[in-house]
Amino acid sequence: MSGDTLIASKEGLDNIKQARESKGWTVEDDRWLKEASKILNPAWQKEQNDQEVEYEKGISGGTWRRFLYRTNPINAKAFKAYCKVLALDWRKVVYNENAHNQVIIQENIEQVLRERANISKEKLFGIEKYLTQLQGYLQDAEGSWLISIVGVGGVGKTSIAEKLVREYAVNAGFYKIAWVTAKTTCFQIASSSQISYGSRLNVDSLIYDIAEQLEVNLPSTIKDHFFTLKSVLNTDRYLIVIDNLETLEDHASVLKKFNPYSQVDNLRPSKIIFTSRTKIQKLTTEVRELEINGISLLATLELIRYKGSHIKRIREASDSDLNPIFNVSNGIPLTVLLLINLIALDDSPLHEIFQALYQQKELYDFLYAEFLSSISENAWLVLRAMTALDSNTPLERHLLQETAGLDDQEFKSAIRECLEYSLLQSINSLTGEPRYLIHNLLYEFIRNFEI
Ligand SMILES: Nc1ncnc2c1ncn2[C@@H]1O[C@H](COP(=O)(O)OP(=O)(O)OP(=O)(O)O)[C@@H](O)[C@H]1O
Ligand SMILES: [Mg+2]
Repeated sequence: MSGDTLIASKEGLDNIKQARESKGWTVEDDRWLKEASKILNPAWQKEQNDQEVEYEKGISGGTWRRFLYRTNPINAKAFKAYCKVLALDWRKVVYNENAHNQVIIQENIEQVLRERANISKEKLFGIEKYLTQLQGYLQDAEGSWLISIVGVGGVGKTSIAEKLVREYAVNAGFYKIAWVTAKTTCFQIASSSQISYGSRLNVDSLIYDIAEQLEVNLPSTIKDHFFTLKSVLNTDRYLIVIDNLETLEDHASVLKKFNPYSQVDNLRPSKIIFTSRTKIQKLTTEVRELEINGISLLATLELIRYKGSHIKRIREASDSDLNPIFNVSNGIPLTVLLLINLIALDDSPLHEIFQALYQQKELYDFLYAEFLSSISENAWLVLRAMTALDSNTPLERHLLQETAGLDDQEFKSAIRECLEYSLLQSINSLTGEPRYLIHNLLYEFIRNFEI
């Protein structure tokens, strides 16, 4: 909207037409102009030698017709005065470029999410605290430009990222988004199996894909692609999501390009969100990392009741009957959903259903096989020490080290490795001795498939 001029919106024009008709004056009737003049200047009087009427400044047959037919913007004072004569609230009929643009940006974002995010718009439980935190990161225009959402498979990273972008990107001032996913498998709950699609991306094709979505023209030489993309990202507020970064063939090199360790190479005012099962090892002030842990007991119970409402056994169960599902799943939604599916298909008691879950090799492969086959021998010793115990309980650091049989240095780097892949969780404070915990499902899987 330039300066002090306004124009009606298309919908506003309908209201104007209706209001004019119900007033009953013709378009040419000079009462429109007289009334508008009086509104702008209550002292205005038509004197009147009657031949040449002098209306208040801005009021004229010309502005009146432009107002009525929406041919051009007119001065704001006259626009408001004409609205008042018509008994219309000018705010409701005016074309608001800002609001209009925001609607268009939101529509574009939703289209990208529909086409790219590969996510069913399911109701999500227990994610408010994560969303609030992430929303803060997104809105902080001067702050970190790299947001990393990490956590074990199926914990809801992609779902949260999608909701975040859908609901808060426009408000945070982003003008266009790109969503790329490196992942080529997903786990289908109904069939308890992995399905594969597409082919894995490498960094070059990822950058090409992002540029295409953001409508950035790239030069012909591949080595200049990133530089060109980056210079565009520095000019306006773009938001990029790289979903499941860890499955990208050469994912370490993404961090070399989108480099959070460089003082000069930032992407501001744009931002980039990674979702990943792997943590970024060295955090800097340019990076905000949020670990998503399972949802709370309360949220898990809500999810079970919502998704299991068609199952009589679940409908009739008390909260304490359902508690073991939370314990076994650690509140990880994918596991909860799989258990609901098993309960629907199999009328065995819950503890037998759990055993059936622990036997699911496909799930094990989907969630853990890749990490477990790539970790070091020492990290394995730590995990075996955790799973050698007959029950899965938090273990003090010194006990774990003793059982794993590693020296201080070896133990430290093995622990770091396990934490990086969320294979272990650390329960620690700044002063006390840390304790370590392993998810129940992983505990059972390692005992079933690896020992
Ligand atoms: N908070 C939640 N409430 C209900 N369902 C959820 C929630 N979070 C995730 N889900 C469901 O759990 C499944 C896994 O979620 P999602 O794909 O977002 O996990 P992820 O962490 O991205 O997993 P991966 O590491 O495999 O990419 C999906 O079916 C999703 O709809
Ligand atoms: Mg995901």
